[in-house]
Amino acid sequence: MYQYTEFDRTFVRSRAAQFRDQIERWQSGKLSEDDFRPLRLQNGWYVQRHAPMLRVAVPYGELSSAQLRVLARVAREYDEPEAEVYRLASEAQRKLGTIRLPTHYAHFTTRTNVQFNWIPLAKAADVMDLLASVDMHGIQTSGNCIRNISCDERAGVAPDEVADPRPFAEIMRQWTTLHPEFAFLPRKFKIAITGAAEDRAATDWHDVGLHLLRNDAGELGFRVSAGGGMGRTPILGTVLREFLPWRHIMNYIEAVVRVYNQYGRRDNKYKARIKILVKAEGQRYIDDVEAEFRQIVEHDGGPHTIPQAELDRVSASFLSPQFARRAAHANSSGLDTLNAKAARHPLFERWLHRNVAQHKNPSMRIVTLSFKRLLQAPGDASADQLDLVAELADRFSAGEARVTHTQNLVLPWVHADDLFALWEAASNAGLASANVHLLTDMIACPGGDFCALANARSIPVAQAITERYQDLDELNDIGEIDLHISGCINSCGHHHSGHIGILGVDKDGKEWYQVTLGGSDGSATSGPAQPGKVIGPSFSAPEVPEVIEAVLSTYLAIRQEIGTRQEHFIETVRRVGLDPFKAAANDVRTNGERAA
Ligand code: HEM
Ligand code: SF4
Repeated sequence: MYQYTEFDRTFVRSRAAQFRDQIERWQSGKLSEDDFRPLRLQNGWYVQRHAPMLRVAVPYGELSSAQLRVLARVAREYDEPEAEVYRLASEAQRKLGTIRLPTHYAHFTTRTNVQFNWIPLAKAADVMDLLASVDMHGIQTSGNCIRNISCDERAGVAPDEVADPRPFAEIMRQWTTLHPEFAFLPRKFKIAITGAAEDRAATDWHDVGLHLLRNDAGELGFRVSAGGGMGRTPILGTVLREFLPWRHIMNYIEAVVRVYNQYGRRDNKYKARIKILVKAEGQRYIDDVEAEFRQIVEHDGGPHTIPQAELDRVSASFLSPQFARRAAHANSSGLDTLNAKAARHPLFERWLHRNVAQHKNPSMRIVTLSFKRLLQAPGDASADQLDLVAELADRFSAGEARVTHTQNLVLPWVHADDLFALWEAASNAGLASANVHLLTDMIACPGGDFCALANARSIPVAQAITERYQDLDELNDIGEIDLHISGCINSCGHHHSGHIGILGVDKDGKEWYQVTLGGSDGSATSGPAQPGKVIGPSFSAPEVPEVIEAVLSTYLAIRQEIGTRQEHFIETVRRVGLDPFKAAANDVRTNGERAA
C-alpha cells in the first residue's frame, strides 16, 4: 500500500487542526453560517435530511487495517445523533413508513469513498483528528473540484492487467490536491482509471476515464476519454486520445480541465458538467484540448511531465507484500486440498465460484466480502463488521482491503491455502454471502432515508428485492445481473448503468419508481457501457419487487443457450429488445390497479 510521506502527514494533520479552529470560531459566533458552510464542505461535511453527513476520501479505494479500525471507531463512538435530532428524524421517517434508522455504521459509495450519516458537528473536530491519525481526511470530497480518483479494485493484482494504475492515481492525487486552478470548476469533476482489459471502474461514465494500454510498439500509455456522466442526461465519455504516452498524462489532463474551466456552462448548474460541453462542442472541444496540450508541452516546457524516477519512486510503495512475492507459483497439492474441501462444503464451493477471483500470482486469490445482505443497506458496514474486516485483512491479506465500485470490500492478497479459514471467519460475520454479481449484489444510494435531494427512498426498495430473492439456487439460476437504484435523477446509485435500473421519482408528493433495462457499466459480462431505457410509466414502491419478478420471469422463459451456458440477462435484453419485458411489467401495474 502507498505510505504517506511526512509531508502528506503534516499536511493532513494541519488541515484537521485548521478545521478545529474553524469549528470553534463558528460555535462562538465569530464565523457566520454562510462563512462556515464552504469551510465545512471543503472538509467533507455536508448537512443532510436529518443530520450532518461526513464523506471521507479513500484514494483509489485502498484501506489499511489501521484505517479500517479507525473507521470502526468513528462508527462506534461518533455515528450517533443527539437525542432530539434522532427523535425528529424518526418522526419524519414514520410518515414515510420506515420506523428505524440505523446508527453506528459506515457507508461505502460507488466512488469508493466512505460516508457517515449521523455525526454531530460538535464532534467533527475530534473525528477529523482521529482520521488524520491514519492519514485520512475529507478534502475534495465535496465541491466543484477534482474529486477522489477511483480505480479498479483489482489494481496491481489482476491477471488481465497491462500496468498498475495506482502509481498514476497517486501522482495525480498529489498534483490535484488543493490545485488552485481546479478548485472552482464549473461543476464537480471525477476521474477513474484502470489498467486492466476488463473495465471494472466504470471509466466510460466518468468526467475523465483513463485506460492504460500498450501501443503496437509496446509502449505504455493511456486511452483518454472525457465527458461521461449520468444525471438527467446520461452520456458516455468521448475518446479524446486513443494513445497518450504515460509521461504526459498530467499535461493532458491539465488541458482537458483548463478548456472545461474556460467554456463549461457556469450559468446553469444542470448544464455545468463537462459532459454537456463535450457533447455540445464535439470535435471543437477536442481541437481546443489538443491546442492547449501543445501549448503546455511545447511552450511551457511540459511542467507536469512525469519523470521515470518519480514513477519508480511512487511505484515502489505499491510493491507486492513480501509474502506474496515469495510464493509466486501454483501449489498443486494446496489446490487439491481446496477442491476436496469444496466437495465437502457446498456453500464454500459456491463462495469460491462467486466471491473469489484469480490473482496475477497463481498461488493467491482476490476475495470479495459481500456487504449485500438482508436488513442492511447496500454498502453499509457496522462498526463490528469494520473491525472484523481489519482482522481478516491482517490475518489473510497483508493488512489491506479495497473498496469496490459496487460497494463491497475486497481482500487482494489471500493465499489459496487460506481460503477455507477465511470463508469460515467471514461466514461467522455474515460477510460471505455468495452473491457477487448476482441480483442481490445491488448498488443503491442512501435515497430519501437520508438524502435531502431525494424524490424517493432507495433502501426499502433494495431491502424488499433482497428479501424476495434469498434463495441462492434461484439467484444462481438467474445468473449475473446488475441492479442499480438511485433515489433521484442525480444518479448517485448509477441506475443508468444497471442492467436493471430503478429511479425514484416524485408524483404529487408520493414516491414512485421508473424502471430502465439494458444499461451497462462496461464490465466484462455487461458489454460496452450504455444507458438503460425506461420501460414505461412509473410504479409504486410495493409494485417494484413484482415488476422485477415479472421482468426476470420473462427473461427465464425466453433466454437461450450459448454453448454450454445460459444467455445472461443483459444479452437477452439486447437480443429481444424491451417489448416482452415492458408487457410483463405493465401487467403488474394493471393487476395492481384492479386489486386496488
Ligand atoms: C447523501 C448525500 C449525497 C448527496 C447530497 C449527493 C448529491 C449528488 C449530486 C447533486 C450529484 C449530481 C451532480 C451533477 O450531475 O451535477 C451527485 C452525483 C453523484 N453522486 Fe452523489 N450525493 C450523495 C451521496 C452519494 C452516495 C452515497 C454515492 C454513492 C453510493 C454517490 C455517488 C455519486 C456519483 C457516482 C455521482 C455522479 C453521477 C454522474 O455520473 O453524473 N453520491 N451526487
Ligand atoms: S441519487 Fe439523489 S437521492 Fe440518491 S444520494 Fe444522490 S442526490 Fe441523494
